[in-house]
Amino acid sequence: MCGIIGIIGIQDVSDRLVDGLKRLEYRGYDSAGIATLVDSGIDRRRAEGKLVNLENVLSDSPLAGITGIGHTRWATHGVPSENNAHPHMTDETAIVHNGIIENFQELRDELAKKGRTFDSDTDTEVVAHLVHAYLDEGLSPEEAVAKMLPKVEGAFAFVMIFRGQHDLMIGARRGSPLAIGYGEGEMYFGSDAMALAPLTRKICYMEEGDWAVLTREGAKVMDTAGNVVDRPVVQTAVSGAVIGKGNYRHFMLKEIYEQPTVIGDTLSTMLHPAQQTITLPDLPVDLKDVPKVTINACGTAFYAGMVTKYWLEQLARVPVEVDMASEFRYRNPPLPKDGLAMFVSQSGETMDTLEALRLCKREGQHILSVLNMPESTMDRESDAVLMTHAGPEIGVASTKAFTTQLTVLACFAIGMAKARGHLTREREAQLASALAEVPGRVAEILNHDDHIAEIAQKVAEARDVLYLGRGPSFPIALEGALKLKEISYIHAEGYASGEMKHGPIALLDEDVPVVVIAPSDELYEKTASNVQEAIARGAKVIFISDKEGIEKMKRHSNPMATIELPKVDPFVAPILYTIPVQLLSYHTAVLKGTDVDQPRNLAKSVTVE
Ligand code: F6R
Repeated sequence: MCGIIGIIGIQDVSDRLVDGLKRLEYRGYDSAGIATLVDSGIDRRRAEGKLVNLENVLSDSPLAGITGIGHTRWATHGVPSENNAHPHMTDETAIVHNGIIENFQELRDELAKKGRTFDSDTDTEVVAHLVHAYLDEGLSPEEAVAKMLPKVEGAFAFVMIFRGQHDLMIGARRGSPLAIGYGEGEMYFGSDAMALAPLTRKICYMEEGDWAVLTREGAKVMDTAGNVVDRPVVQTAVSGAVIGKGNYRHFMLKEIYEQPTVIGDTLSTMLHPAQQTITLPDLPVDLKDVPKVTINACGTAFYAGMVTKYWLEQLARVPVEVDMASEFRYRNPPLPKDGLAMFVSQSGETMDTLEALRLCKREGQHILSVLNMPESTMDRESDAVLMTHAGPEIGVASTKAFTTQLTVLACFAIGMAKARGHLTREREAQLASALAEVPGRVAEILNHDDHIAEIAQKVAEARDVLYLGRGPSFPIALEGALKLKEISYIHAEGYASGEMKHGPIALLDEDVPVVVIAPSDELYEKTASNVQEAIARGAKVIFISDKEGIEKMKRHSNPMATIELPKVDPFVAPILYTIPVQLLSYHTAVLKGTDVDQPRNLAKSVTVE
């Protein structure tokens, strides 16, 4: 992961480097640093932890210079510390790097034999020393980088500056994203358009294997073979505006509360409420003929894929396989001719999902992605994209991105069912009207916030929490558990309700809250029986259902708490039942005093394997 930025400016760059890093902090926040060219050489400031620590260092000890690079880190090699913070440098060059140099140990040993000494435990520092060694041989910076590139293995992006070379910056991309920005007499590198948007709208997205030499005059881009290539410069639509929290205490809470609006915005791209129809955009594949759908994603987006499997199998009667991208890409799966491969990703940059996409492309699958970030790598590499309209999601824990993914995928399932002749006009109208009601229903559920905050007090005392659900509620149980784990650091697991008796039931006692997702659908009775089994063993159940479901449950036993949701068509229940589990995790994390928006060890965009 990590975020990188570089500026060849016409005035001091340190403030703008830090501003760029603020926009990249979602990529990692273990440490941050900047380096600039100063008269006598290269100087840098670094700090462990959040960017604010670097800002404090810079206010005590400002850094001048009109050419510089910056980095916000998600640690891979070497603990998060000031010493391991980027930029890494020698007397001759400084580097910021995103990704992993796989053969760094071998290179480091070779360089050490030649007398080079290292200050950090990182893989990155090796590249600085290797280039320095080539500069010592009398090569120019461009020649030294050209000689270094074939020697390093792995997936990475980096930017380098060189002592005394105030009009030069070199960057390379292999596996991790890197973009070039064109300013007025200035040039920039950035991990994405988001970092560069306040500086320029003119962006060139480097392609796999590209490397580029920047001067104030412009950029010379080369491919892996060293041939100079022309890459298009586009006008980015990404906004340079600063995104604030408004009156909310955390971005996560703001984003939870934005859901009625963003789900509505997303629906409006495919749903016609008056006609009660769903219309998919033109796709470069005939959905009627697709033999199989393969869905790949990671984390929360993977759970959106899991829900989609239930929807597509039930409505469109198409075989669906859904996989974690990190597993899929290494198991050499057989893929049918003309199969449809779908990818779900908020960022459009997640390395595992992207590599699964590339694998499916090589295997001749039709590539359809559900993304939130326009101009992301997956957007550029897919045959077709269905966009969620969640807007920028800043909280590291995904909330509105997930529910808008479900919204798009629900529409897609209806569209595919129609295309395959499996949906009556009447059922389409029912489903469309159920979807049209979702924004209003989500707003209703948000009114339960105070009640859920009270229930969170019990959850905050627990060491372990179980989440149960059946059918499409099972992925929501998994999502609830993931959300609780990642922001409150309480151990939580999601299980298919029917699986509990095959093992997890051994965990149950009065100290383990069990959160049950149980809309009144055709599986309700089965889930209810599993809940009775849990209550019979002293478990403290938090039962989430509609009025009818809660009344039925209370006839037999007494859950510790209930959360009553509106009665809806079971088809849309996964979207609605996500809201209480988001709020439950949020309030639990606030009670635990964790860093809700930037939980430890995580990053928003996971661009390493
Ligand atoms: C959890 C979370 C992650 C992401 C996952 C995939 O709250 O945010 O599990 O869902 O890293 O990220 P994207 O959707 O950007 O591919």
